[in-house]
Amino acid sequence: SKVHLHKWDISYQFKSPDCMKKLAITVNGETPGPTIYAQQGDTVVVQVNNSLVTENTAIHWHGIRQIGTPWFDGTEGVTQCPILPGDTFVYRFTVDRPGTYLYHAHYGMQRSAGLYGLIQVAVPDGVAEPFAYDYDRSIVLNDWWHNSTQEQATGLTSIPIVWVGEPQSILINGRGSFNCSLSGPNQVCNATNPECSPFVLAVVPGKTYRLRIASFSSLSAFNFEIEGHNLTVVEADGHYAKPFVVENLTIYSGETYSVLFTADRDPGRNYWLAVNVVSRKPGTPVGTGILNYYSNHPRRLPPSSPPSGPPWNDTDYRFNQSKALRSHPAYVHPPPPAVDRSLLLLNTQNKVEGRVRWSINNVSFNMPHTPYLIALKKGLRHAFDQAPAPETYDYRSYDIYINQTNPNATISTSIYRLEFNSTVDVVLQNANMMNPNTSDTHPWHLHGHDFWVLGFGMGKFVPGTDEKEFNLVDPIMKNTVAVHQYGWTAIRFRADNPGAWAFHCHIESHFFMGMGVVFAEGVDRVGRLPTSIMGCGHS
Ligand code: C2O
Ligand code: CU
Repeated sequence: SKVHLHKWDISYQFKSPDCMKKLAITVNGETPGPTIYAQQGDTVVVQVNNSLVTENTAIHWHGIRQIGTPWFDGTEGVTQCPILPGDTFVYRFTVDRPGTYLYHAHYGMQRSAGLYGLIQVAVPDGVAEPFAYDYDRSIVLNDWWHNSTQEQATGLTSIPIVWVGEPQSILINGRGSFNCSLSGPNQVCNATNPECSPFVLAVVPGKTYRLRIASFSSLSAFNFEIEGHNLTVVEADGHYAKPFVVENLTIYSGETYSVLFTADRDPGRNYWLAVNVVSRKPGTPVGTGILNYYSNHPRRLPPSSPPSGPPWNDTDYRFNQSKALRSHPAYVHPPPPAVDRSLLLLNTQNKVEGRVRWSINNVSFNMPHTPYLIALKKGLRHAFDQAPAPETYDYRSYDIYINQTNPNATISTSIYRLEFNSTVDVVLQNANMMNPNTSDTHPWHLHGHDFWVLGFGMGKFVPGTDEKEFNLVDPIMKNTVAVHQYGWTAIRFRADNPGAWAFHCHIESHFFMGMGVVFAEGVDRVGRLPTSIMGCGHS
């Protein structure tokens, strides 16, 4: 196995990803940052130099379990102190499974500012994957706002709240196209800036392509379509899927998929790549790129209009895709049949001291000053709330379809302590928001583990009954999963990775507003913590 050393300088740069000039956080001057390529079993070393001048940072390796290195998960407040401006921090971890993963800032809302990129881990030499293709390409999706993340963060914590609103653009591999005629007098928008020329995916007629699709979106759920070409889903979050064919793919923030498609259509023209917002009422134009059949000119526009995807409010459509995703039959790793602990987590929008927050069983998450991993390892009991976080909610009387009668929640730093090696079920229950007849979709992401996706349901999960619907036969394993509007999602995992791990909604502003929890397990087995993660709070 190899060691891959990367030296990254993190800085603000003026960028025009959608033709509008804006300050973005870059890695070595780029957003998205460079893709990390490695092979299963390799070690990745990333030397991060924080040149943001006035901001801290931390970088999370999303989907990499950090077995034996829980201190390099990159989650500020959970596994490390922030990297101060001018400081250099070295991450060093093993990539133990092949697949498609992400990296992104895990400090404040910096992911939205542009600090994100892809990690591709190849199978070892001589190992075959359960599908074949001629070329491997990637598609990185994001949503983009013109105001700064500082302005967004301030708005979210203001009374009354200033909501971030719908994004101005959808970026495909860091490229979008805002209509410059809509820009304001003090804005710099240049429709001919090469930075915002559309992304072109060039294909050779007759060849089969593996597309690794990843979403870093801060808010939006996306539907990705290649005009006229079906997609066969073969990988999700680093796990091989039982292949299934879709006309278009719905992808939530924090998810990755590999799909196969063959360039077998009329080669005399180009086709659209289209990214439409679903689940929220779209306020953003469709994101487009060009599928360029050799030897048409790459800039030649397709003679049609871009596909508009499924209706944005068709929840069943998205629910059905979620349910269609199963483990590849040759790679089924069935979940343990017996469960040691079950958590039922109600997701609600609340108010705390007049501020809008998101809560889990009425507790809104707050990051402590001393990172949990350090506090737990050193036994600093005053560093966070020692009362256990709530296991369930009053599911018998709670009506998930109406506004909460008492919207007030509490803010806490409490966590869930899991017995090492125990099997844990988590059912995430969605509900109405503070406005009538609204419920968001929440993509939940677990650090440090993959989980089995046991099932999805519409309406209220009834403990003692709905477990019967769980798929214990061939569930896919993932690290991020959607909780649909007014629905529930059930997952199972083994608490077998010593450390402290965030589990949260991957919508940047939701996590910022408290939509997360922390699991800790086997902390006595965690090795000696590197001093580089310390230096804040009581550490
Ligand atoms: Cu990709 Cu905790 O996040
Ligand atoms: Cu959310």
